[in-house]
Amino acid sequence: MTSTDYAPPPERERWGSRMGLILAMAGNAVGLGNFLRFPNEAVKAGSGFMTAYFISLLILGIPLMWMEWGIGRRGGVRGHSTCPGMFQSLTKMRFVRYLGAIGVVMPLLIVIYYVYIESWTLGYAYNAVTGALGEATAAGETSGFFKTYLGAGGGFLDMEDLNGSWPAYSFFGVTIVVNLWVLSKGLSKGIETVAKIGMPVLVLCAVALVVRVLTLPVDPESGRNVLDGLGIYWTPEWSRLFSSEFGPTIWLAAAGQIFFTLSVGSGAINTYASYLTKDDDVALTGLATVSTNEFCEVVLGGTLAIPAAYLFFGMDRVTEAAQSNMGLAFNTMPQIFASMPLVGGEASGTTGVAIFGTIWFGLLFVAGITSSLALSQPTMAFMQDTMGLTRKKAALVVGGIIILCVQPVILMPGVLDEVDYFAGTFGLVLFSTIEVVLFMWVFGAGKAWAEIHQGSDIKIPRLFKFVMTYVTPLALITMLCAWGYNNALPILNFEVDPSGNAYSEAGKTGAMTGRMLMLGLLAFFLILVFVASKRGHYDNLMKEGDDS
Ligand code: ALA
Repeated sequence: MTSTDYAPPPERERWGSRMGLILAMAGNAVGLGNFLRFPNEAVKAGSGFMTAYFISLLILGIPLMWMEWGIGRRGGVRGHSTCPGMFQSLTKMRFVRYLGAIGVVMPLLIVIYYVYIESWTLGYAYNAVTGALGEATAAGETSGFFKTYLGAGGGFLDMEDLNGSWPAYSFFGVTIVVNLWVLSKGLSKGIETVAKIGMPVLVLCAVALVVRVLTLPVDPESGRNVLDGLGIYWTPEWSRLFSSEFGPTIWLAAAGQIFFTLSVGSGAINTYASYLTKDDDVALTGLATVSTNEFCEVVLGGTLAIPAAYLFFGMDRVTEAAQSNMGLAFNTMPQIFASMPLVGGEASGTTGVAIFGTIWFGLLFVAGITSSLALSQPTMAFMQDTMGLTRKKAALVVGGIIILCVQPVILMPGVLDEVDYFAGTFGLVLFSTIEVVLFMWVFGAGKAWAEIHQGSDIKIPRLFKFVMTYVTPLALITMLCAWGYNNALPILNFEVDPSGNAYSEAGKTGAMTGRMLMLGLLAFFLILVFVASKRGHYDNLMKEGDDS
């Protein structure tokens, strides 16, 4: 290898500082998944979930994080900021650039509905500040408030009641503009700055709420306490974990949560890592990202909604709230805040909803935006580095795609769930499998191990080489088969919807629209990769910088 093999094209952006990188990567991972999805999944799966969760973290989450940092940094120093080029440079096989296109499309598909949910948190923070949410909560109308906010119609905007949709549309508009503005500022000035301010604010807000929840007194009427609420999903129950009735559901829920929360398997981590230089550490920094995410998820996210809901409303309400994906965060939390004393023993009512609600929805918005920026960055980078657009034009293209594609998500029931299932759940496992096979098997375990250790500040225990080479791919392939057969196929055949219920007519239409959206975007990016190939983009970079 010669030194020119590693010369990055001068125009590529770089992270400003190591701390900025760590915070941006942590911001990438820490998101709505930590505070909304995690408690829901944990309660739905029940006891045994945390055991499966930590095992999945060890054999899937941490290994995939290291691999994606390795693939990303290696690609980046050869001028590739997205997976099509990264994959090709790993394998020298041209067709894999088309597989890499999935690593651009998937984060984009996720961010389309993610930004929309993120905008609800902004809307709710605003309504907490103005007191409107507090009034609705005092009147026992939190779920009505949610429907009105979204424009009624089964939780989504109703075409016949578009008046009600204006709040949702307005906050979506603000959210997307803020995202695009930050993206147009670039990596260091935009994304890194937001992470440097946002992450400490997020952690402080979450810690403040956690301290309040943990110091809540025993409920005098029921005798329930907060710590028993933690036991709901912390109790290890091995028999349940290996029973044929519950086992598969618990394992898939736990592994699915690991993928979503760490942002692995989408291509987003790879792109962030591509802005490293060849001797930047990835082993320790990757681990720091995982640790920060797990702290925010298990310690902070896990200590808020469930224990507090249990204390005030009991187990039945917790189970019920967890069944509806957004119910816990948007309906139950305001009720908790109204019941929670500011200090002393008196329920704080509307004041509590205003204060705690602003902190809660504000922190969700920050968690959301640091992740939506990361999920948008692969498309930004593809448009800039592969298609040659300026940063501002790339931001406009990203914004245009999101605004166009979010319309069916907003207006039609079933689209969000379908895209979330195939892109945000099943797709992550599929893409991770492709990555692991290419990196550990085609590129080679020895070279991959050396790549991850290049410039490393720590030596990863050798056991992980074995895990990454054999255990991770085996676990992924097993999941892919089990999941594909048991879940994805029945959904594809319209036998059950992603929640396991029968499809309604409207849900079926939404699901078909979601599928067209996913296939349409995939086709669009495959064509763009083809165009870039014809222009010689990948071959030129291979000539300049590849040594594999
Ligand atoms: N990892 C991000 C989250 O947890 C996408 O929300």
